[in-house]
Amino acid sequence: MILRSGTAAFAAALLALAASTAAAQSPPPASGRTLAATCTGCHGPAGKSAGSIPSINGRSEADIVRAMQEFKTDRRPATVMNRHAKGFSDDEIVAMAKEISANWR
Ligand code: HEC
Repeated sequence: MILRSGTAAFAAALLALAASTAAAQSPPPASGRTLAATCTGCHGPAGKSAGSIPSINGRSEADIVRAMQEFKTDRRPATVMNRHAKGFSDDEIVAMAKEISANWR
C-alpha cells in the first residue's frame, strides 16, 4: 500500500515536471489585454494620450490591424512604431486590436 501510493506520487511528480518543461518551451500566447497594456506607456491609459504621441482609443479593430501591419512592413513611415510593430506576430496584432477596439473608448 505504502509502496503503491509512493509510486503514484512519483508518477504525479514526473507528470508535473513534464508539464512544466513543456510550458517553458512554448509559453502560452499573451492575451490581447496583456499585449495592449504595453501600448499605454506611450499612448496613455486606454490609449488616451496627453502628449504629442497620437491617441489610439476609439479605433476599429481593422484600423489598428492595418496601422500595425503597415508599421511592421515599413509601408508607413514612423520613428518608433515600425520597430515596435516588428516584435508582434500577426495573431498578436489581431488580439491587441480586438482588445483596443472593444475596451479603449
Ligand atoms: C515607445 C513608445 C510607443 C509604444 C510603446 C507604442 N507606440 Fe504606437 N506610436 C508611437 C509613436 C511615436 C507614434 C507616431 C508614429 C511614429 O513616429 O512611430 C505611434 C503611432 C501609432 C499608431 C498610429 C496612430 C495614428 O493616428 O497615426 C498606432 C495605431 C499605434 N501607434 C498603435 C500602437 C499599439 C497598438 C501599441 C502597443 C502594441 C503601441 N502603439 C505602442 C509610440 C509608441
